[in-house]
Amino acid sequence: MTEAAAPLPPARTPGRYAVALVCLGNICRSPTAHVVLARKVEDAGLGEQVRVTSGGTGGWHVGGPMDSRAAATLTAAGYDPSRHRARQYEDDWADEHDLVLAMDGQNLADLRAVSPGLAAEGRLRLFRDHDPVEPGGEVPDPYYGGDDGFEEVLAMVERTSDALVARLARAVAP
Ligand code: 4NP
Repeated sequence: MTEAAAPLPPARTPGRYAVALVCLGNICRSPTAHVVLARKVEDAGLGEQVRVTSGGTGGWHVGGPMDSRAAATLTAAGYDPSRHRARQYEDDWADEHDLVLAMDGQNLADLRAVSPGLAAEGRLRLFRDHDPVEPGGEVPDPYYGGDDGFEEVLAMVERTSDALVARLARAVAP
C-alpha cells in the first residue's frame, strides 16, 4: 500500500488528532511505539496538535513501568522510557481517539469485540498498515523471546512512526 493509498480517518476535531496504540500488556510493544511516535511528533512540531496514548487489552500490568528489556532498548537508542505507566484500553477510548492502532491481529480482534463502532467507522487499524517496508504486518510479541526481538520491534516502530507522522501532519493541516 502506498502512502497516498492509506489516508488516516478524518480528525473529529479539525486541527487536532488523538491516536492510541494498543498491544496486549502495554509494557513492551505499544509503549515502545508510544515513546517513539510521541518523540517524532514533537520533532515534527506537531506536539500541540497530536496526542499519543497507549494501552493494553489486558490489565495485568496496569500502573507498572515498561518491561525492563523494552526500556533498555529504547534508552540505548536515545529515547526516554521512564515516564511510562501501563494502562488498559477501555471502551470510552473509542470516542476519545481519532485512530486506534493495534500491534497484532489478536489485539485487533480483541479491540473490535470491545469497540465495534470504532471498527465500523474505519478508526481501528493495524499499526503496521503504515509500515513502508511490509505494510499490514504484525508487530511480533517480544515478551517471551530474547533481546533481538526488542530490537526488531524498535526498528519496525521507528520506520512505521516516520510514515505515520507524515500522515498525521496532513490530517491536522488546515
Ligand atoms: P506487550 O507484551 O503486549 O507487547 O506489552 C506482553 C506483555 C505482557 C504479557 C504478554 C505480552 N503477559 O503475558 O503478561
